[in-house]
Amino acid sequence: MKSTIVCALNEIEPGKAMRVMVDAIAVAVVRIDDDVYAIADTCSHAKVSLSEGIVLCDTKEIECIRHGSAFSLVTGEPSTLPATQPVAVFSARVENGNVLIETSN
Ligand code: FES
Repeated sequence: MKSTIVCALNEIEPGKAMRVMVDAIAVAVVRIDDDVYAIADTCSHAKVSLSEGIVLCDTKEIECIRHGSAFSLVTGEPSTLPATQPVAVFSARVENGNVLIETSN
């Protein structure tokens, strides 16, 4: 596993998402309070950026802006149609005010 600093925590507003690139993979970094989550940025239904979507803080999901599927920030599974396939999630953490994401390579 490799940890990569992708941004500072204070670059993301609480309840918002930001698109970053990690090893040529587009990742949506989501902030809920002072916790961070990382989910692959491309919706599994169509090529739409999940970081443009709405963060559902209570259920720890992000809702695709195009057709409204909500994906778990913990498992990547969609809880609502039309998407039926999960998207990848990555381990994310805050260290010294920076957001780090773990990837396998
Ligand atoms: S493009 Fe995301 S739900 Fe359709």
